[in-house]
Amino acid sequence: MMLASTALAGGVELQPKAGDPLVGLSKQEVALFWAGRLDYATPFAVESGLGPVMNKSNCQSCHSNPVGGWGSIAVTRFGIDNKGEFSPLEELGGSLLQSLSISDSCREIIPLEATVTAARMTNSSMAYGMIEAIPDASIAVNADPTDANGDGVSGRVHWVLPLESSPATPLRAGRFGWKAQIATVLSFSADATRNEMGITNALIPTESAPNGSAALLAACDAVADPEDVPDASGMTFIERVTRFQRYLAQPPQTPSSGMSGEVVFNAIGCNKCHVAQWTTANLLSLEPALRNKTIRPYSDFLLHDMGLLADGVQDGDANEQEFRTPTLWNLRTRDPMLHNGLASGGEFADRVTTAINAHGPFGEGAGAAAAFAELSVTQRNQLIAFLDSLGREEYDLDGNRLIDAVDLSAMAACRLTGASSPDSNCAIGDINRDGVVNTIDMNGFLLAAVRDGVDITGDCDGDGIVDFVEIFNGAPDADLNGIPDNCAPACPADLNGDQVVNAADLATLMNNWGTPAADLNGDATTSAADLSILLSSWGNCG
Ligand code: HEC
Ligand code: HEC
Repeated sequence: MMLASTALAGGVELQPKAGDPLVGLSKQEVALFWAGRLDYATPFAVESGLGPVMNKSNCQSCHSNPVGGWGSIAVTRFGIDNKGEFSPLEELGGSLLQSLSISDSCREIIPLEATVTAARMTNSSMAYGMIEAIPDASIAVNADPTDANGDGVSGRVHWVLPLESSPATPLRAGRFGWKAQIATVLSFSADATRNEMGITNALIPTESAPNGSAALLAACDAVADPEDVPDASGMTFIERVTRFQRYLAQPPQTPSSGMSGEVVFNAIGCNKCHVAQWTTANLLSLEPALRNKTIRPYSDFLLHDMGLLADGVQDGDANEQEFRTPTLWNLRTRDPMLHNGLASGGEFADRVTTAINAHGPFGEGAGAAAAFAELSVTQRNQLIAFLDSLGREEYDLDGNRLIDAVDLSAMAACRLTGASSPDSNCAIGDINRDGVVNTIDMNGFLLAAVRDGVDITGDCDGDGIVDFVEIFNGAPDADLNGIPDNCAPACPADLNGDQVVNAADLATLMNNWGTPAADLNGDATTSAADLSILLSSWGNCG
């Protein structure tokens, strides 16, 4: 699969779509991205080590929107509540339930002893490589564990040891997972490969025993560990899927800045946790496409006490009430939202309203939730419109994630009105952000349409100007089919306009012989050449 070029004249470039590879990867890195993506989507077989207990047989079946992104499947954690302290019941197969097995006899159940069960939705950070490349020290700057500034928002780093690091090395700032329990993509991949699929690997070489039973494990597991072995090029599965995830691009944001709703977002304190912008480390050990880049994930990657959102589960050093601030990039495509999927279904505005309200009344999100409740209807709509720009593709004016004839007609209307401000819907079609929607923007539209597989070559009247451009320039397209409504194929020999070339037209031509009145070939006279054109187009037009 190749992407069309996304560069426009004047240095303007289309933003990658969610799920696309980073811009600026080398050819070899792009190849690793696509190869890793294939692994990510390919189910493991029992012979290659799947199970004996697992939740799925490949990564994509949970991380489906887009491939590598979030999904609507939740996993279950269980344990016991020991006087307010969570204990994971490891001896009974906790805390993660594997709900499937390659054999009925080895299937896990939630043990009767469990007093805590919690659902965790499949999350996604996209651009995992970018997030991984944020320096620990930058994350630590925003931490305020004792709330020294008294704003009701603390936030602390979840320091963890990556599976691939020696215990002698310093801890790293965790940033992946609902509780920031993991610091690197490779560690998460090893963890998921073993815990979600039952594939033992170089970093976790032992199997998860069904409900903790060594006897059941011995009865059901026939493949030697580690099951993830290097391929011909020396790379293991966990390394291959790590490349794919690290090379995912950041999702688009359109318009990329300047919306009134972001001012509201900051004014009511959402940005105290959902920190907009980060710069990745400028390290030579990083690929150039990942090095020293600015990203806008809208997270501080810190743990916060979220009060009533508590799931009762301790994860590493993160306690029962704490969650990592999730990234908000690509939010508009997320359904359901929140760790437990509480904000699901309905319109986007309904989901974000539910998610924001769930930040209060207790915990560190209480202030922001209360301030949200005080907003005027206008401010609330501005805030929601801003949140809806997170993940919006350029030119998707109607927001349905397809660049099509509906967006084209909206572009045509914007050609007349211009894009007065980033809040105007027309700003979605003003790629170079100069306030007018003109041919430069329309060229970008055509690139975006081609990228989405839309055929833009249609030219119904054969005049060399494609239909999309004619519609942009004002040709009506009321039925929104991307073909101008009044387009009739050229039929010049139909001199009386009744859509048929017949004896009536022949008579008109003969009557005008020698004058320009029935000239068909543009030589300013009516002659034998015109007669032959008329005869050769005899019959119905079209
Ligand atoms: C059964 C569903 C399921 C499968 C299969 C699955 N995941 Fe996940 N994934 C999840 C859930 C649920 C989370 C959130 C986990 C948490 O925070 O405890 C998650 C989180 C992640 C994250 C962290 C995202 C973030 O930034 O917070 C990464 C990375 C990840 N998974 C990689 C993988 C890889 C690689 C595979 C395949 C080897 C995989 N997952 C298979 C459900 C799944
Ligand atoms: C104290 C830190 C904090 C503040 C302030 C805060 N959030 Fe959050 N936000 C979080 C955490 C932590 C979660 C995850 C909670 C969960 O899933 O249980 C979250 C979840 C969300 C989600 C759901 C995202 C998803 O992927 O599931 C949205 C939307 C959101 N916040 C928007 C906002 C908005 C808008 C504001 C301002 C009104 C705000 N947040 C203020 C920390 C914060």
